[in-house]
Formats: sequence, C-alpha cells, structure tokens
Amino acid sequence: MNSLLLIPVAGTVFLAVQLFIFIVHLIRSPLKSVPGPFLARFSDLWYFWAVRKGRFEQQNRELHQKYGSVVRCGPNRYSINDPDATKIIYGLGTQFAKSSWYSTWGAPGQWTIFSDESIKHHSQTRRLYQAIYSMTALVNYEPYVDECNTLFTQRLAEMAQAAVPIDMGHWFQCYAFDVIGMITYSKRLGFLDRGDDVGGVMGALDGHLKYATLTGIFPSLHRPLYAIRNYLAGAKGAGRAYVLGFTKQRIREHQTTPKAVSETPESSTTMLDFLSKFLAKHSDDPDTFTSYHVLAGCSANMFAGSDTTAISLSAVLYYLLKNPGCMQKLRDEIKSCEEQGSLSELPTFQESQQMPYLQAIIKETLRMHPATGLPLERVVPEGGTTIAGYYFPEGTVVGINTWVEHRDPRYFGNDADAFRPERWLDEDSQKISVMNRHWMPFGLGSRSCIGRHVSMLEISKLVPRLIRDFEFSLQGSENWKTEGLWFVKPKGFKVRVEVRKYSRSG
Ligand code: HEM
Repeated sequence: MNSLLLIPVAGTVFLAVQLFIFIVHLIRSPLKSVPGPFLARFSDLWYFWAVRKGRFEQQNRELHQKYGSVVRCGPNRYSINDPDATKIIYGLGTQFAKSSWYSTWGAPGQWTIFSDESIKHHSQTRRLYQAIYSMTALVNYEPYVDECNTLFTQRLAEMAQAAVPIDMGHWFQCYAFDVIGMITYSKRLGFLDRGDDVGGVMGALDGHLKYATLTGIFPSLHRPLYAIRNYLAGAKGAGRAYVLGFTKQRIREHQTTPKAVSETPESSTTMLDFLSKFLAKHSDDPDTFTSYHVLAGCSANMFAGSDTTAISLSAVLYYLLKNPGCMQKLRDEIKSCEEQGSLSELPTFQESQQMPYLQAIIKETLRMHPATGLPLERVVPEGGTTIAGYYFPEGTVVGINTWVEHRDPRYFGNDADAFRPERWLDEDSQKISVMNRHWMPFGLGSRSCIGRHVSMLEISKLVPRLIRDFEFSLQGSENWKTEGLWFVKPKGFKVRVEVRKYSRSG
C-alpha cells in the first residue's frame, strides 16, 4: 500500500475500534439509562465547559431538577441527589476513595492531605495531624485571633472615615490569611497591615484554584501541564509551586526569627504555633513525620485556610445585609449578652457558643453558601454499589454537591431557598436531626474538613464584634455576583462601613 495512505487508514481503523469499544460499553453499561446532557455521554469536555462557566453550583441544582436523583456529568461521572447517598458514599468505614480529579491539587507524584487517593495512606497521615486541629487545641490560639480581629477593626474604622465603598471579600481574605499566618507561624503575613496581596500569594492561589479545578477533569494532563506552567512562570514557579516556595520561605523565617507574640509560661506549649508543633513531631520521629509532612501541614493551611473562611465570612455579612430582620435579631442578642455581662470587649469563643441566634446564623449561612461548589467526587469500590435504584460498577465516579444537598426541600422544607436561621432553633428535634444529616459544608466522613475548627473559631469570634461595632450597607440592591470553580467566591462584594454610634452602657 502507498505509504502516504497508511496514516489516514491507520487513523480511521483506530477511530473505528474506539467507536466500537465505546458502543459496546454503552450497550452493556448498567448506567446507560442515566439521564443528563447529551454530550456528557461521550466526553468529559461537557463537564469541563460547564465548570469553566463559573456557576456549576447552580447548574448542578438545575440538572437535578430536570433529570432527577442521578445525573450524568461525563462518560463515567455522576452527580447524586438521593436521601441514602450521603451514608453510602461518605459514611464512616466506607471504601470510596477520592477520585483522580483531586490529584491536580498536589504536585505530580506528591501526596497532600486533601488530594490523597489512597484510603490507607490518607488515614495514616491524617492521624498524625488530627490532634493539632482539634477545637481543644485551637481555643488556645484565641489571643492570635484577637490580635488580627483588633487590627481588622482598626482598618475598618479607618475605611469608615474615608467613606468609600470597600471590597469586603478582599478584606476578609486578608483577615483570614493573617489569622492562618499567626496560627501556623505565630507571625502575621502582613495582609491586614498592607491591605494588598503580600508577595503575590493570593494571585498564585487563585491561579492554582483555576488550574486544579479544570485540569482535574483530565488528570492525565496534570504532569505535562504542571511542568509547562512552572517553566513558563520562571524561577518562582506558578500556582502551587509558587505557594510552596512562599511557605518554605515562611518556614525559614520562622526558624531564624523570634515569635511575634510573647508567651506566658503556662501557654508556652499550648500556644505553640502549628509549625513548631510540626517541627517537634519531626524531631521526635523523623521517619514517620518527615520534613515533607512539615511542609505539607503548613501548605495545607495556606491552600485551604484563607479562601474558605473569607467566603464564609462574606456570606454571613451578605445574608445579614439582605435580611435586616435577622441582623436586628442578632444585634438584640448581642445587646442582651452585653447587658448580662456575657460578651467581652474581645468576644471569646466560649461566649459565642452561648449565643444561639449567632450560631444559627453561621449554620444557615454555611447551608445557603457552602464554600465548595462541585460534587465531592469519590470512586465506587470493588463490588460496586446501588444508589437510587442504579447499579454503579467499581471504578465509577460519583459525588454529591453540597449546593444540591443543602437546597433540597426534602431535608430543609419548602423554604429551602430562603435564608431562615430560625429553622435551626424552632423546628422539632426530628426535623433538625434530618437537616443535620444533610448539612455538609465541611464534607462528611473520613475526608471531612480537618480545618473546620480554625474557621469556626474565627467566624464565631469576629462576627459578633463586627456587628456590635460597625454598621454595614450593601452597595447596590442587586444580588451579589459570585464565581464558582471549586470555591464559590464573591466577586466585588462592595459595602460601605460606618463605626456604630453605640454606647456600651446603654
Ligand atoms: C468555612 C471554612 C471551610 C470550609 C467550608 C471547608 C470545606 C471543606 C470541605 C467541603 C472539605 C472536604 C472536601 C471533599 O470531601 O472533597 C474540606 C477538606 C479539607 N479542608 Fe476545609 N474548609 C474550610 C476551612 C478550612 C481551613 C481553615 C483549613 C486549614 C486550616 C482547611 C483544610 C482542609 C483540609 C486539609 C482538607 C482535606 C481533609 C482530608 O482529606 O482529610 N479547611 N474542607
């Protein structure tokens, strides 16, 4: 045969074989009847395109409204919305590993707590970190959080004087970054001092967020794309590599400079920052807790500790501003706590736990606006599983999106789309227990958020202080704009701020 013809003929044969395999697979698949967008049956490109548009958290809800409890998002990718699914997929003791979508959150070939696809390795490493993130350990960091809260309120007071609208999403991120810096290195990273992106790390994190979210849909491209991106970015690297460089720099500084906050003798062990605790673990047993564990722990805080908290704080303020009745009730609760002497100038975590309406607001906000906007993907283990009447063979990727789960009237009632903190206080205990089972802003089971108490500490202490000391007003009457990739971030959340003319004694 003419050698020029060989290439097109071979190409056609290859495509024909692929098509044949695809059709056989389609006919034999127990999931062939699962509905969903037509193109999703053939390629993950449909999912890529949908996620890239930046509102998948909404689209995912619309898909379930249109197609029912199981929706096809790709040839081997399904979004689930079924009452039994949370337990089957994420329940304790289940063997559903994270999908390879997560692999792009780490450098190729390196584990991170978040992206680890091995159940065994993950459970070994998570055990090494768990105690450091417990609430009992974290409340010892209250002075760190107070220091940032005080600086943040000073900044807000200055901006109130300047009387210009401010981007609260940005300021909450500065705040969350500085708290995470204090807790991790006992050093503020300087975001609140400067009000801008110190060392370009916010930009690098944003770049990593886009890269990891989208490349994760085609994880086999991760290795070459990661290398190309870093090569093009030059010496400091891009995205994850850049943030790792930034983290290593902070670790070096920490080892050569004294701490910012002086410690009392009693607090000398409890107030030790995360890095000191990681280093102590490393020197105790360097084979089990390696120097990579030290870096992985610090960088997990950098990657996961600022966007998530900032989004949640923004959402608390946004929903309070959109619901003046709720704002007033919170102010009333704050006032009554002050009158009873149960709210300090620097509100403590303990005090915040005695404020039921505040807690209901936080819970309801995390329901209405959970920080993550994509299904939490897992791989069906050996033996397959049945969900919502479909049999999913081993290796199928399934996931639940918190945005879908949280707005489901079966669990949250017919007003599931409304911000109503009272639902957590007034409903009967049976309804509350159903709601609790389906409330999953921090994920569920063995892969649930290890840093949730860090955020809860910050949110619980900061919100009463801000609402007590400041008056905020939304710029514009429209609903806010968000951009949803893995995180659903507010875009240009502009508010005006005024110091409250408020006498503590009256
Ligand atoms: C309101 C704030 C936060 C929200 C809503 C949130 C949400 C989540 C969710 C949904 C997951 C599970 C992801 C999955 O199953 O695919 C997760 C995991 C994780 N989060 Fe958070 N997070 C928050 C704050 C934080 C903070 C402050 C840190 C660190 C200081 C952190 C570190 C992590 C880590 C390391 C994991 C992986 C845990 C594992 O796989 O064992 N998060 N988070």
